[in-house]
Amino acid sequence: MKKGVIIQASARSNGNTSKIVNAIKSKTQFDVIDLSQKEINHFDYEFKNKNDDFNLLFKNIAKKYDIILFATPIYWYTMSGMLKVFLDRISDFLFHEKEFGRLLRGKQMGIVSCGSDATVFEGFEMPFVQSANYLGMDYLGHLHTWIENDDIPGNVNSLIDEYVTNKILIKG
Ligand SMILES: Cc1cc2nc3c(=O)[nH]c(=O)nc-3n(C[C@H](O)[C@H](O)[C@H](O)COP(=O)(O)O)c2cc1C
Repeated sequence: MKKGVIIQASARSNGNTSKIVNAIKSKTQFDVIDLSQKEINHFDYEFKNKNDDFNLLFKNIAKKYDIILFATPIYWYTMSGMLKVFLDRISDFLFHEKEFGRLLRGKQMGIVSCGSDATVFEGFEMPFVQSANYLGMDYLGHLHTWIENDDIPGNVNSLIDEYVTNKILIKG
């Protein structure tokens, strides 16, 4: 079985997105990286932030895993700022140490969102589809989830099972 990691990009470590992340982890045994516990600064063209946590973290991810699942809450109809900064910083490896950027080619990328309800607007998925394409990654698809009364509702549990079975375990 391929090795996978869930990159949790919520503003809180134990919030709604983490409930979904834990459910996926229990079904896949994937590792979890909580970006809120890392110091990852904005991309800049002078690479002033090259000594924060991103460089080492990205290299480890690129070397170790075949499947990368990004788990983000929906904030203002899109991914969290934390995840956007993480994606921006991948650009570091398109300018410098390109061999690590190239390691992403052929790996699989999936996206898990957690919003306030079942509604997810058109356009949410586009940056992930196009980024996977640009990076030469195989896009696994989008799982949209939500939490009700602090718990994962039954229909969301079914969606998680379906995604894990059809997108991760079969393809992975
Ligand atoms: C800044 C902010 C913006 C939000 N914008 C949206 C939104 O556009 N659509 C939506 O469905 N939920 C929105 N929500 C609700 C969150 O997506 C939802 O509560 C989610 O489960 C939170 O996950 P978390 O606990 O991991 O942060 C927003 C919440 C916050 C804090």
